[in-house]
Amino acid sequence: MIGVLLVAGKGTRMRSDKPKVLFEINGVPMALRPLRVLLELCTEVIAVVGHQATLVESSLRDAVIADAELSKHLSKLSFCMQEKALGTGDAVRTAARANAKSFGDFGVLVFNGDLPLVTEETLGHFLDVTKNRALDSACLSFDTKFPFGFGRILRDTVGVFRGIREDADATKEEAKINEVNAGVYFFSGSYLMKAIEDLSSNNIKKEFYLTDLLGNRDGRSSEAVLWKKPEDLMGVNTTFELSTAREIAQRRLQRQVCEMHGVELELPSSTFIEETVRFEGPCYLGPGVALRGRTALSEAVVIEGAAQIVSSTIGKGTKIKWGCNVEGASIGENCSIGPMAHLRAESIIGNSCRVGNFVETKKTIFEDGAKAAHLSYLGDAEVGANANIGCGTITCNYDGRNKNKTVIGAGAFIGSDSQLIAPIRIGAGAYIASGTTVTKDVPDDALALARADFVIKEGYGKRLRKK
Ligand code: UD1
Ligand code: CA
Repeated sequence: MIGVLLVAGKGTRMRSDKPKVLFEINGVPMALRPLRVLLELCTEVIAVVGHQATLVESSLRDAVIADAELSKHLSKLSFCMQEKALGTGDAVRTAARANAKSFGDFGVLVFNGDLPLVTEETLGHFLDVTKNRALDSACLSFDTKFPFGFGRILRDTVGVFRGIREDADATKEEAKINEVNAGVYFFSGSYLMKAIEDLSSNNIKKEFYLTDLLGNRDGRSSEAVLWKKPEDLMGVNTTFELSTAREIAQRRLQRQVCEMHGVELELPSSTFIEETVRFEGPCYLGPGVALRGRTALSEAVVIEGAAQIVSSTIGKGTKIKWGCNVEGASIGENCSIGPMAHLRAESIIGNSCRVGNFVETKKTIFEDGAKAAHLSYLGDAEVGANANIGCGTITCNYDGRNKNKTVIGAGAFIGSDSQLIAPIRIGAGAYIASGTTVTKDVPDDALALARADFVIKEGYGKRLRKK
């Protein structure tokens, strides 16, 4: 079977320059869902692009590559350009003309790009019904109380499917029909190749309607297959519908990770998990947790709440306390992070480490057991095993031009409120006295101390107040 994905439209009602099909649901473009179904079912998939074609093509390609399962099918995917948005019929015609050879011999499955909740189950049912029936065409339909904007399914008095009437062209009576066209179609390739060339744009919108190819008439056999779960066939035309689809898609993903991995959600309505996130076992997500990008959580991870984790890995038994932001980091096992810590790109934290409140790390390695419990900036640094970074320590990594490195040896003790002027090296087991500005390398096991003389002047306060 050949798949055709229609993603050339602008999506005017979204009121945005961004192509509609690229708005994200569960962190991936909404068109990825129908594209996934097509790639899994078909031997070849053609995506018809038009509005912002380059962006749509590269975004969809990237989304497929980023998905371990889907990327296996990448070679099936090609793109074809619809120069002008002359309607869905014109879009399919563009794909058919560009692939005339393969189309004629196979079944063709066509999907609108704005069907973010469509499932393999829906498609399985659709194909079961159409299979072995030698149909020229078929579409999926559903019942809705609000049919406005949809193509209405026309049936005669005995229920035979006669065609689809677009909203703009419907008579008052037709407009009342509650069974509508979802935007999922099956065609026999030979029928499609012939009929698509005969389409006319003789309608209110002056568009070529793909839907004119459906219905039993003029000797064609056609079926509208009613699907009982309208939610699965929800289309997205406005940002409000987008938000509704997002809620449903997020709940589905949450159910999946709960059932598959025993993920425990304290307040699911406040939890956001992107489709690209991986779980290795049971873990706990408190209120307000967002897991994004290529994040991977091992078992027994606890994320207390109000946290964002982006493209980071978190090891077994690690606890992320309230209010953390973790991006592009790797954290080992049994660590304690936060509350309110900020781990930035290339922070590599070993096992049994502690990164405490108001600690910011960037491009920094913590060897096992290293600790920075309070108020620090650690950038471009290596912190040896079991080293202790006192409260208020700062690696002064930036001299205005270059980023320089700080290396702290195993078991070193950095006293509170120290500044380490990089590039600098603190030896293993060395001590830095509190309040020291370290400007020279410190040998192993040495003490570095830099303080002005400490002076006490008795009675000074009283004398000052008398003046
Ligand atoms: C279409 C159907 C309608 C159905 C509804 C379901 C037609 C004529 N009507 O209407 O029966 O109930 O979907 O949501 O097909 N596109 C192109 N090129 C174009 C126009 C559209 O690629 O020239 C793509 C869009 O990017 C979108 C899909 O086709 O992914 C559907 O287009 P849209 O404008 O949303 O169609 P509707 O008017 O909603
Ligand atoms: Ca639509």
